[in-house]
Amino acid sequence: MKDILEQLEERREIARLGGGQRRIDSQHAKGKLTARERIELLLDEGSFEEFDMFKTHRCTEFGMEKQKPAGDGVITGWGTINGRMVYVFSQDFTVFGGSLSETHAQKICKIQDMAVQNGAPIIGLNDSGGARIQEGVDSLAGYAEVFQRNIMASGVVPQISVIMGPCAGGAVYSPAMTDFIFMVKDTSYMFVTGPDVVKTVTNEVVTAEELGGASTHTKKSSVADGAFENDVEALTEVRRLVDFLPLNNREKPPVRPFFDEPGRVEKSLDTLVPENPNTPYDMKELITKVADEGDFYEIQEDYAKNIITGFIRLEGQTVGVVANQPMVLAGCLDIDSSRKAARFVRFCDCFEIPILTLVDVPGFLPGTSQEYGGVIKHGAKLLFAYGEATVPKVTVITRKAYGGAYDVMASKHLRGDFNYAWPTAEIAVMGAKGATEIIHRADLGDAEKIAAHTKDYEDRFATPFVAAERGFIDEVIMPQSTRKRVSRAFASLRNKKLENPWKKHDNIPL
Ligand code: HXC
Repeated sequence: MKDILEQLEERREIARLGGGQRRIDSQHAKGKLTARERIELLLDEGSFEEFDMFKTHRCTEFGMEKQKPAGDGVITGWGTINGRMVYVFSQDFTVFGGSLSETHAQKICKIQDMAVQNGAPIIGLNDSGGARIQEGVDSLAGYAEVFQRNIMASGVVPQISVIMGPCAGGAVYSPAMTDFIFMVKDTSYMFVTGPDVVKTVTNEVVTAEELGGASTHTKKSSVADGAFENDVEALTEVRRLVDFLPLNNREKPPVRPFFDEPGRVEKSLDTLVPENPNTPYDMKELITKVADEGDFYEIQEDYAKNIITGFIRLEGQTVGVVANQPMVLAGCLDIDSSRKAARFVRFCDCFEIPILTLVDVPGFLPGTSQEYGGVIKHGAKLLFAYGEATVPKVTVITRKAYGGAYDVMASKHLRGDFNYAWPTAEIAVMGAKGATEIIHRADLGDAEKIAAHTKDYEDRFATPFVAAERGFIDEVIMPQSTRKRVSRAFASLRNKKLENPWKKHDNIPL
């Protein structure tokens, strides 16, 4: 009996070594942790329960029958993050470069199926050379099985991908279908085809970092939602994100104890908006002053900075924030910011996360590059996302809400539940100067007359009161009381029930 018990422990020891000590040392030398070390950091201590530790591939091509490492390059199972259940897979680069075989895929599919069935998030730690070359079409089939499950799980359980090494070919498409992608700076890459293939096909010379490093995907392509300095920071931040999210689409997000007075008055907000309407200010100041304990988890911080997206808590409950940022492009909506915010709004709506919208928007960015790029379709994504969302929606207009952008930013007309404005709000078709130049074109040569018309327009329309008279604004509130008003608004909406008409699915302008 003792022998049998020892044998199990021996087999486990061998399996834990993955591709062997030499390859583990090489992984460490690159500044990367091993697949198992990553799981240890991600999950609560001692909470990991592994599946399929001894599963091996069945390939007999290219002498593969002689190399059958236990686990086949991916560690799968479940554990907890601050006591809440998550499923996890972690690819082991020391085993055939973390490449995906038929068996490796089956292991991932097993936890995807269990996660959907049991209602818990899936976290994928990706470190893979893509399809296992020796397995050919079996490997491609394995990828497609994983993709299909990514699609079925979308909107059912949160799916988070962390890219912690190379991710080439098929390895990028599974993360691309998950809710969030995080990368590790300098050690992770994502591309459909690597620099060598690029050189052969297009003659472009590009480094792996330029083609698909963390900077490229967080600043240019927007494929990734965040980048972190190293494995430890990335895993710690994923734990922090999971704390904001519900386990599945049938549950509410978790409620955390809070130590911040919901009625906290912030006098400094009364002077946040500058006297001059063209002077920018930092909308993040408002977000952190409204949030419980000033805690804000930003998503896509380095992309389309003219809009801010992320999570805060109010009275311990998760709230998604979408806010125009006057510091960048004067807070205009454009293609990139519309896409960024639309995807965020849809994530929140999938998972019953209420949305707070902070508005200071002078309109859509004009110009040929925007029109040729399809700003109409992309702007419509945000409009569509807000309009279809049935979660509680609270909006605060701090300054400008002009034209179509007023409508788009969770206005009353898109079923906003509480629409507040600060006294500094200007809700109009356009700014006073532009409006005057159009409706008083005949007086354009007369500076005095134009100044008088502009002043008249400002007095009549550059205020929140016309909208408030119509009921489009529920209340004009003091900036200093924003946290209190917004917290109470969300508290009153906790039992909100709103359903859209039955449909198979909608046809959002993609
Ligand atoms: C089998 C692989 C592998 C793969 C790496 N290895 N990729 N084994 N299939 N796809 C093995 C190597 O043989 C090596 O084994 C070990 O992993 C480490 O690889 P190295 O090349 O030594 O490491 P490194 O220099 O860090 O380079 C990592 C890499 C490179 C950039 C990922 O290995 C690479 O380019 N691999 C091929 C990538 C690729 O073309 N994949 C197929 C994509 S097509 P030893 O025994 O020496 O340790 C695809 C189609 C799917 O994915 C489409 C679905 C839609």
